[in-house]
Amino acid sequence: MALGGPGGRALLACCCCCCFALLASSLTERGERPLVPEAKGQCEAGGPFGGRCGGPEEAAAVDGAAPGLWVAAAAASSSAPSFRGPGNDDSRSNRELPILLWWSGSLFPHFPGPTERIECPRGSCLATTDRRVRLHRRTRALLFYGTDFRAYEAPLPRLAHQTWALFHEESPMNNYLLSHRPGIGLFNHTATFRRESDYPLSLQWLPDLAYLRRRPALSLAQKEGERRRGLAPVLYMQSHCDVPSDRDRYVWELMKYIQVDSYGGCLNNREFPNMRLSDTSTATTEDSEFMTLISKYKFHLAMENAICPDYMTEKLWRPMHVGAVPVYRGSPSVQDWMPNDHSIILIDDFESPKELAEYLDFLDRNPDEYMKYLEYKGRGGITNQFLLENMEKREWGVNDMTMPNYLNGFECFVCDRENARLTAEREHKRTRGKVPAPEPHIAQFTHMGCPPPAPGYGNIEDIPAGDRWKEMWLQDYWQSLDQGEALSAMIHHNESHQGRFWDYMHKIFMKRTQKN
Ligand SMILES: *[C@@H]1O[C@H](CO)[C@@H](O)[C@H](O)[C@H]1NC(C)=O
Ligand SMILES: *[C@@H]1O[C@H](CO)[C@@H](O)[C@H](O)[C@H]1NC(C)=O
Repeated sequence: MALGGPGGRALLACCCCCCFALLASSLTERGERPLVPEAKGQCEAGGPFGGRCGGPEEAAAVDGAAPGLWVAAAAASSSAPSFRGPGNDDSRSNRELPILLWWSGSLFPHFPGPTERIECPRGSCLATTDRRVRLHRRTRALLFYGTDFRAYEAPLPRLAHQTWALFHEESPMNNYLLSHRPGIGLFNHTATFRRESDYPLSLQWLPDLAYLRRRPALSLAQKEGERRRGLAPVLYMQSHCDVPSDRDRYVWELMKYIQVDSYGGCLNNREFPNMRLSDTSTATTEDSEFMTLISKYKFHLAMENAICPDYMTEKLWRPMHVGAVPVYRGSPSVQDWMPNDHSIILIDDFESPKELAEYLDFLDRNPDEYMKYLEYKGRGGITNQFLLENMEKREWGVNDMTMPNYLNGFECFVCDRENARLTAEREHKRTRGKVPAPEPHIAQFTHMGCPPPAPGYGNIEDIPAGDRWKEMWLQDYWQSLDQGEALSAMIHHNESHQGRFWDYMHKIFMKRTQKN
């Protein structure tokens, strides 16, 4: 889902010496307005947040208000169920509840109004976007959307009683800060595409298991017919060409050895039968004409825009839905999630594009061997226990109005954790330390931890200086490490002026260049 654009991306795409200046100047252009208003002076008793700081109007969140309207990625609906569970008999009034502050303005899974009482499986919280409660003692967690998180805009000083929660289901390329230890280590709760994260979203693009089987593949006779009418065995369809995975470089090489029909803006060699299909918004919906086009092909080059364990998108699942065999590069651990052990072809299993082409050509000429890749569509074809179990225990739905969505799910996950921490802290205090204080939760590298971008084909030494991909993505990746270090250092020093970010960056930059 596109909940927010990768705002500062182009900004980071510059050479190493000028990058710093460019970022700094763009910040000044936008004006360094303080994002955190001073709390002192405007704080009075009252409001649903109760005492100390002025919050949203009482009317915004009265006790017993209807549960939040679930705003799903694709459509808003008022009928999706909530997460309230048998463990929640929370009778506290709104004024007593812990507050979760959604810091990223683009993301707030409630409607209407800026504040909502949420009823979660084990307890309740107040969720809000009202930044005036930032320094409030009851504000226990700040929630961030990964794509929008900028080190130079982080709310400082960081308060010891507040945790940071990260929601990032989009591509790692949207924010490489989170792929480095200092960056991810800023957070206490995570929901990312990685199975290791606290609230994993790995199967976010798979609506349900039936999605893999519901739609039968075209018969082999039909596909052979399409081949005779001039379709290539392999389909490629991409309009975003300059991406960290550098996929075009690979496909360009592959095209020397096997016929590939490329419809999108990248390496284009064939026009869509209907121009309507070239609209990328069509490509992200399940348009029936679009799906039919894909289904005519034996193979679909399914290559993610960035490489990271468990980062899998519709590029993988959609061809499986329509019965075109994915020729895949993306998550190195993709096989763990597949319906059986023979349903996709992994690009990296082959020494070279030439060898891959030879294998695809072999399958093109050997129907029995080809059809083995579609056996998961048959009865009992989904045999992978790991996939079955993970789908079974998933508590949220994908575009499914009968299930809660993962954004609200994660919000409740944080709410439950914060209520548990409150209880544990009280116990600790009440027993004068006999019961130990709660252990901190700190996100691990593996909650995102995506590797540096590597060339789609060939060795990095062989790629000439000035190459667009090399200039852009390697710089972006490593510059993000500096940014994470700068922000960690600021927090370590209890820094409260965002504007000093550039001083910290400068220090880190100097340290690094001296070392080299
Ligand atoms: C939250 O994470 C920070 C590190 O970024 C850590 O210092 C702090 O103790 C953690 N807080 C809790 C309550 O786990
Ligand atoms: C951190 O800074 C804030 C505001 O500048 C101050 O109120 C607070 O006492 C400081 N905390 C520590 C541990 O020094």
